[in-house]
Amino acid sequence: MESMWADLVPVGRDRATGGYRRHAWEPADLACREWFAAEAERRGLDLTIDRNGNQWAWWGDPDAAGPGVVTGSHLDSVPDGGAFDGPLGVVGGFAAVDLLRERGHVPGRPLGVVSFTDEEGARFGIACAGSRLLTGALEPDQARGLADRDGTTLAEAMRAAGHDPAHLGRDDETLRRVGTLVELHVEQGVDLVDRGAAVGVAHSIWPHGRWRLDLAGEANHAGTTRLVDRDDPMLRLAAAVMRAREAAAEHGTVATIGRVEVHPNGTNAIPSRMRAWLDARGADEADVRAVVAAVAAAAGTEAVVESWSPEVEFSGVLRNRLAGLLGGAPVLPTAAGHDAGILAGAGVEAAMLFVRNPTGVSHSPTEYAEPDDCRAGVEALATVLADLTGERS
Ligand code: HGY
Ligand code: MN
Ligand code: MN
Repeated sequence: MESMWADLVPVGRDRATGGYRRHAWEPADLACREWFAAEAERRGLDLTIDRNGNQWAWWGDPDAAGPGVVTGSHLDSVPDGGAFDGPLGVVGGFAAVDLLRERGHVPGRPLGVVSFTDEEGARFGIACAGSRLLTGALEPDQARGLADRDGTTLAEAMRAAGHDPAHLGRDDETLRRVGTLVELHVEQGVDLVDRGAAVGVAHSIWPHGRWRLDLAGEANHAGTTRLVDRDDPMLRLAAAVMRAREAAAEHGTVATIGRVEVHPNGTNAIPSRMRAWLDARGADEADVRAVVAAVAAAAGTEAVVESWSPEVEFSGVLRNRLAGLLGGAPVLPTAAGHDAGILAGAGVEAAMLFVRNPTGVSHSPTEYAEPDDCRAGVEALATVLADLTGERS
């Protein structure tokens, strides 16, 4: 595990902040994809890349003896993200395979390691794009047309990376291979810290989404324009930001405006137009929608939904089975979206294991997990995978 980690750590890392910029189909992401292929090759696993770019490494033939059991996560990151969100689940998946082999386990069902493409949606705006395309939750034409901040479309980015975007879309041939998915992930919070546990099991994922606010104003001189003559969209954005926090507190949800584009973004110019993105989440969907409505009203513009993830409750039978296998591991909800949640929403039996994060921080360079807890996570994953695949007779 240490050697895999050491190979990945420098890829896409910002020297100044220590954070990661591994965005879909950009060079750092392609280097991560090559790392995945090399690790699969090193273990003699059968590597396949599905129509949506998701990478699968199989121990056993899921078409002959499937459906199989799959573990894995994603390798892409948010801008300036942490080292563990995603990679812990992919490195952990390969490490669990190694552990099972060391123990002489011969799985009774095919066992796969997966790396889902573009889970964070950092470049093209839609979270879990690879797993949503795989399950049909994201329309191929809409996906191909998604553009990054430079105007490069997903189709162009995939083609430049040597992947044909013409075949994007629901992939039943791949889905049929996945009987059960277990995703190992660093906890993005302090629940496990508070409980004094190294490993937990996911109960559910809150409903959450991303909305865009387009604010129009009138460009003018910052110095010569009288206040009474101004049409400054920054004021409406300020109102929206304050209202987001207030409405979130009122409704017991969370809401964040963490990304803003200002045009022309000049120090001595009143902006002509702006774009801001709202991330809103909560245990109750109606509360989330109430917050979004309040923010849109404060901004005086429509909140255009760009990504929506309904609440997901993981299979109770499976999560209880895993918690039992792990000696009564705690079962926790999360407000973070995951590919396992997308597959569960598409009817695939899925579960998640969380590894304690002493900082509780995520989507930041300070995200962390102790080596002992990472090992505990891999041990737990191996135990669960051994149980789910059974022993070949
Ligand atoms: O935003 C999320 O919850 C996840 O990191 N994609
Ligand atoms: Mn994340
Ligand atoms: Mn993640």
